[in-house]
Amino acid sequence: MPDIRLESLRYVYSRGTPFEKVALNDVTLDIPAGQYVALLGHTGSGKSTLIQQLNGLLTPTAGRVLYDGEDIHRSKEALRDIRFRVGLVFQYPEYQLFEETVYKDIAFGPGNMRLPAAEIEERVRKSAHFAGVDESLFDASPLELSGGQKRRIAIAGVMAMKPDVLVLDEPIAGLDPAGCRSLLENIKRYHRSTGCTIVLVTHEMNVAATEAERLLVMRAGQIALDGTPQEVFSRPEELRSMGLDIPGAAALAQALRQRGVSLPESIYSPKYLAKTLLSRMGGVSC
Ligand SMILES: Nc1ncnc2c1ncn2[C@@H]1O[C@H](COP(=O)(O)OP(=O)(O)OP(=O)(O)O)[C@@H](O)[C@H]1O
Ligand SMILES: [Mg+2]
Repeated sequence: MPDIRLESLRYVYSRGTPFEKVALNDVTLDIPAGQYVALLGHTGSGKSTLIQQLNGLLTPTAGRVLYDGEDIHRSKEALRDIRFRVGLVFQYPEYQLFEETVYKDIAFGPGNMRLPAAEIEERVRKSAHFAGVDESLFDASPLELSGGQKRRIAIAGVMAMKPDVLVLDEPIAGLDPAGCRSLLENIKRYHRSTGCTIVLVTHEMNVAATEAERLLVMRAGQIALDGTPQEVFSRPEELRSMGLDIPGAAALAQALRQRGVSLPESIYSPKYLAKTLLSRMGGVSC
């Protein structure tokens, strides 16, 4: 698993035109191998642009993207290798689906890796199961399916490559609560069993709070906050000034504190809040 370093990264869309837009502005960031990171930020803050740097889909305007100290853009071969090792699920899965059947779409990545047919088939079935794609859909055209199903197929296609670094841009958007829970559980299980790195972009503060060990909050193309969920959610005013919410449990704890209930600043998960309140009420545990 690689250590990732973004070094003074700058990215400008439509450079030299009247539509020029600085989307990343001098971002320096280290992501150690095996970390589970959630990337947050108001719409337009640069999240999708940043993660497209992680598999070399976008080339920096300035600065470098390093894996284990080596620039991913140093050669065509290095970039090809990175595309196999870093699985990126796009924010809009339509951009990722282009084969005539669901099966072919999921099999595309491992096929490109020139794996034996039996292994490809096994990976397609396992990753379809992982992402909640029913095998009865294998012969359907991905383009005829619902938004949620398309997203699952895109996720399955990326998982079939068994990535060392899994990058997911709003993967739970459009999924129902049960589907959302089971996908997040599967991602966590994959993280634990393989030790891979995960970068999850989400607007859901509760999801970031409960899934990730580190939160990065972007504002106007820069990393504005970087810390554990506990550290980041203990700065509600800053988050609100960036147009972001704090998780429900943190907001409730804050409201209770304002009414005189003594609670630690570090509460952000419903389970921890319930446990703390119950223990205050006489040592009941949950
Ligand atoms: N293809 C493009 N051409 C020009 N500008 C772009 C392009 N893609 C994004 N931008 C601009 O770059 C900035 C960062 O966009 P980006 O999509 O990375 O933000 P984001 O944080 O992912 O937003 P969202 O939460 O809406 O997905 C925005 O101002 C956006 O308008
Ligand atoms: Mg985006």
